[in-house]
Amino acid sequence: MSDALLDTAVAAIQGRAGFRKPRIGIVAGSGLGPALAALTPSLAMAYRDIPGFPESTVAGHAGQILVGDWGGRAVAALSGRSHGYEGHAPAALRLPLRVLRRLGCEAVILLSSVGSINPEIRPGRLALVSDQIMLAGVNPLTGANADAIGPRFPSMVDAYAPALRMRAKKAAASLGLSLGEGVMLHHPGPSFETPAEIRAYRLLGGDLVGMSMAPETIVARHCGLDVLGIGAVTNMGAGLTRDAPSHAETLSMARAMAEDVARLLGRLLEQWDAPA
Ligand code: HPA
Repeated sequence: MSDALLDTAVAAIQGRAGFRKPRIGIVAGSGLGPALAALTPSLAMAYRDIPGFPESTVAGHAGQILVGDWGGRAVAALSGRSHGYEGHAPAALRLPLRVLRRLGCEAVILLSSVGSINPEIRPGRLALVSDQIMLAGVNPLTGANADAIGPRFPSMVDAYAPALRMRAKKAAASLGLSLGEGVMLHHPGPSFETPAEIRAYRLLGGDLVGMSMAPETIVARHCGLDVLGIGAVTNMGAGLTRDAPSHAETLSMARAMAEDVARLLGRLLEQWDAPA
């Protein structure tokens, strides 16, 4: 895997004291940073100290990489993410996932707050992402392909690894946590959906809406990371309830769900190498 930007970013992280090779990556977005509290970091580094790393400009996103141990596994977690709607170029948005891969991760757990458009998946619940629909937004692989990193036309079949979803279901069941499951419909944002868009997305087969996970999954699959996507359902989609969605509500709900996310991840990581 080679790319000058990638080489420089990876070297900056590996050169820090406390670095150890991670096996599993985690990306935590809006309000979900506190879910990482159970990770014991041997290294914490701000995105601004990593050359080329896009800095998140969104309230509720911390902006640091933590490398350390969680549940006996070597983990690298990105606390805070950047989105296309912040104006970052696709190349900058590709970097964080590729860095995780190059540091040694074989899989990544993508955590994001999401809206629900499926009446059976209510706010306050966690939901596994089974597949995605990316109708709108810029494909993050737009531009010249880095053939050493991945193919020009990567497959998106089983993009959310069935084996990891199975593990997550087992972990949730062992904790008595209720987990929904559904298709992520990507909405590029930053405006929330209109009620008409929500109705259309439902007709198209979506269960969840979000502004971050689908492009990250494309980048992750392209560079060979297995993906587990977990949404923290913070609200029903626009028009499905009387209240309009808001970032403040999304943040406070996600913070309230961070403990469930932490319990689920803790159990999942502990059992990561157990026979399926
Ligand atoms: N729409 C899009 N993204 C979201 C939502 C929503 O309703 N809630 C949390 N992230």
